[in-house]
Amino acid sequence: MAKSPSFTCTACGAAHNKWIGRCEACGAWNTIVEVAPLSAGPKALGGKGKSIPLTDLATQGASPPRAASGINELDRVLGGGLVPASAILVGGDPGIGKSTLLLQATAAFARKGLSCMYISGEEAVAQVQMRAARLGLTDAKVSLGAETNLRDILTTLDTHRPGLVVIDSIQTMWLDTVDSAPGSVSQVRAASHELVTFAKKRGVSVVLVGHVTKEGQIAGPRVVEHMVDTVLYFEGERGHQFRILRAVKNRFGPADEIGVFEMTGDGLAEVTNPSALFLSDREKATPGSAVFAGIEGTRPVLTEIQALVVASTLGTPRRTVVGIDGGRLSTILAVLESRCGISFAGLDVFLNVAGGMRVNEPAADLAVAGAILSAREDVAIPPDMVLFGEISLSGALRPVGQTENRLKEASKLGFTQAIAPARSKLGQGTEIMVRQMPDLTTFVGDMFGAG
Ligand code: TYD
Ligand code: MG
Repeated sequence: MAKSPSFTCTACGAAHNKWIGRCEACGAWNTIVEVAPLSAGPKALGGKGKSIPLTDLATQGASPPRAASGINELDRVLGGGLVPASAILVGGDPGIGKSTLLLQATAAFARKGLSCMYISGEEAVAQVQMRAARLGLTDAKVSLGAETNLRDILTTLDTHRPGLVVIDSIQTMWLDTVDSAPGSVSQVRAASHELVTFAKKRGVSVVLVGHVTKEGQIAGPRVVEHMVDTVLYFEGERGHQFRILRAVKNRFGPADEIGVFEMTGDGLAEVTNPSALFLSDREKATPGSAVFAGIEGTRPVLTEIQALVVASTLGTPRRTVVGIDGGRLSTILAVLESRCGISFAGLDVFLNVAGGMRVNEPAADLAVAGAILSAREDVAIPPDMVLFGEISLSGALRPVGQTENRLKEASKLGFTQAIAPARSKLGQGTEIMVRQMPDLTTFVGDMFGAG
């Protein structure tokens, strides 16, 4: 029986049973390629394999130590330092500061005695040197090269065997064995595969820099994500100086961990107390503002959520969000409407997380609702109050994790009261006055006298 051909999307990996112009799973165009059908066992492959050596779960020796860069915000996101022979992807928008971060990181690792190499495919050697001079990194022993031909880069790596190599960026690299342009899915995939395999075989840690484009992500780092051990995204809003390095996948540490940096004239500076920074320019008792006591990875972070609710001139009112998932806002508005009888018909709603921070936690629901209601009713939430809690579709408030850590951080920053879901696990000796509420209706009635 002839096997039917099978097709796969090179952007997202989805399987299809026929060739189509646009992948139904991820929406990418022209990414479907035919792949050889899966065979059934070694005989079907020709039977020439050899048996691989197997071992047991106990390690043979102590695990190799991680290398710390001394940049705490980076080391923590890596899960406590750089794991030898690991492959890391650092993705982010063009111009967000990836090259700056990695040049500083490479120099920091080099100063700690790790042999480091920085290969730029985007800038000339002189440009990188100028940047290094401006950042005060010229004393660090980093081997610098400008090249895009991967065959030459791999040969160089094999000769010098550094502890760490940064490839900036993976989209500029090309293999002469692959018949398509640099930056295409096949090139990015093949180049990443070569580099990651090399990292594992030769014990070299590899950092791949990848540009993410907002529209489409063509040849974006998505195809690379599966191949590497750690995926970090460097994010931030344009016009804000804060940059957040976020671990979205980490085989060697917790995901969701963030490191906070500030882009200054002298490069990226660590921000050790992000809460203070995100709240620093908060005005006192403004309607439309609520402080969310959040958790990012292992660290509590307070952020200010701002809302504006105005009469709409449009047939379909505007819902504009920055820093929070738009779907989440729609859900909260729907719950307010159906469970508390507060309508947003004919009203534009704008929502924003201050400071260019992105909030992904469902625990932010209550603060979002608080900010929106405060804006709509023109009633300020007390400036010394934090809020957290997940809103369910029934309008109930669900307890969230790490209540104690959230309250501790809030207390440390001078907050004296909090609103949390009923049955939250309060720790011993919290100095904050916590009001626990079972549902959104109670919250609305209590805070705004409406509902
Ligand atoms: P860059 O690291 O080149 O971004 P990417 O590699 O992600 O494309 O950073 C570019 C931006 O950073 C540029 O707009 C200038 C700014 N910048 C500073 O503000 N201070 C600095 O010290 C440096 C080196 C860059
Ligand atoms: Mg760059």
